[in-house]
Amino acid sequence: MKKDFLWGAALSNVQAEGGYLEDGKGLNVYDTLVVTPEKGIAPMFCDTAVATDHYHHYKEDIDLMAEMGFKAYRFSVVWSRIHPMGDDEQPNEKGLAYYEDMIDYLLEKGIEPVVSLVHFDMPDHLLREYNGFLNKKVIDLYAKHVETVVTRMKGKVKYWLTYNEINLAPYQSDLVAGVYRPEGMSQSELFAQLSVNTAVAHAHAVEVIKRVDPQAWVGGMIGHAPFYPLTCQSDDIIMADFKNKMHNYLPFDIMTNGELPDYFENFMKNRNIHVELSDDERKVIKESSQKVDYLAFSYYRSNVQASFKDIKDLNELEDAVLFDTRGLKNPHYDANEWGWQIDEEGLRYSLIDLYQRYHKPLFIVENGIGIDEKLENGKVYDDERIVYYQKHINSVKRAVEHDGVDLLGYLAWSPIDFLSSHKEIRKRYGFVYVNRDFDDLLDLKRYKKKSFYWYQKVIKTNGEDL
Ligand code: BG6
Repeated sequence: MKKDFLWGAALSNVQAEGGYLEDGKGLNVYDTLVVTPEKGIAPMFCDTAVATDHYHHYKEDIDLMAEMGFKAYRFSVVWSRIHPMGDDEQPNEKGLAYYEDMIDYLLEKGIEPVVSLVHFDMPDHLLREYNGFLNKKVIDLYAKHVETVVTRMKGKVKYWLTYNEINLAPYQSDLVAGVYRPEGMSQSELFAQLSVNTAVAHAHAVEVIKRVDPQAWVGGMIGHAPFYPLTCQSDDIIMADFKNKMHNYLPFDIMTNGELPDYFENFMKNRNIHVELSDDERKVIKESSQKVDYLAFSYYRSNVQASFKDIKDLNELEDAVLFDTRGLKNPHYDANEWGWQIDEEGLRYSLIDLYQRYHKPLFIVENGIGIDEKLENGKVYDDERIVYYQKHINSVKRAVEHDGVDLLGYLAWSPIDFLSSHKEIRKRYGFVYVNRDFDDLLDLKRYKKKSFYWYQKVIKTNGEDL
């Protein structure tokens, strides 16, 4: 791997910070989220008041990252810490100061900050009063948030990410999209309008970042889980291809080509959907596409897609595939307790596929496995995590060294334990264990897991010794 390869890890602050009403922070959609449990898992959900208390432990947590030898660390600026309601005239100074101190501390430790500008944390007020990104005013408020943060951190942050997993935003959900489906609007209409609005939001963010700090690098980011056809029958292949385009490639296609792709226009034409997209918005999308420096993605697993044999109408069939909730399993792979299938070569495949499709430097900004772990005499022997990482990093090396993919770095998920996107503490991802249970905060003390020492060695040897 090249000498300046960015080894490190990533965290979503809203899932780790806690301090949810401290220092002027407002509520966001993660704080107010009412959780729908992942399939088959008993609900044991935490609130976000404390989470894993990263708000008060951030220096200690960064010290641990420095001890592991991190070259880069991705975190997110919680929108409602900066703009508590989202539509505030003035930003919250204490929020800005908090992230500036964090960045200064990272730089002092020689760790490159990689900063996400929104990560499942839209101010709750923007959901309730505006209906999130379905309302064009929210695009302006988001652009204002971006401008406030980037202006303050100018010269200190090289890598910005406009929007965490932007491809998930078009689905109706008060968590990732921060939006309700208006009565009378079909799922596919909502999908189309949100795809367009978040593309415009991303484009504005790119414009702002490049105007405020031309030296900075801007990246788009998706949550990438490739869809393989369940069988080699042509209808499954066509539907997997459709799903990959609509679910995975769409935002990157718009970001890099500067226009809506034909397959998406066709999807709308077939359904008589007319999205609101002004000439000015088309222009900003076009112009921003020249300015995107890299493409980032998270990868945890691959998926499978099958057609619905009994649906004859093609629009109906595509809608069923786009909003498929069957959770089909690939018979060739094992899964973790939450059914997330483990497919390390799927990561290599994704790297090759995305690089050949876009010819832009790529950045893996999340990869990891959630495991239910227990602290035993101050130790956590997370061999399962080590094996997962060994396999995935090996695939990354093959993609870079054999397949010629230009990769900026690899950020594992995650440095410390936090609440999962479903607010579960039982589904742990960290190299560092945080001592709390779902119903008892215990002492929130940090303990290095076995994987902590393993990853330290990997970074030290630049990925040679896995
Ligand atoms: C990614 C998100 O989709 O997956 C993270 O960016 C999330 O915020 C991660 O934590 C793992 O998912 P989960 O549901 O296990 O937390």
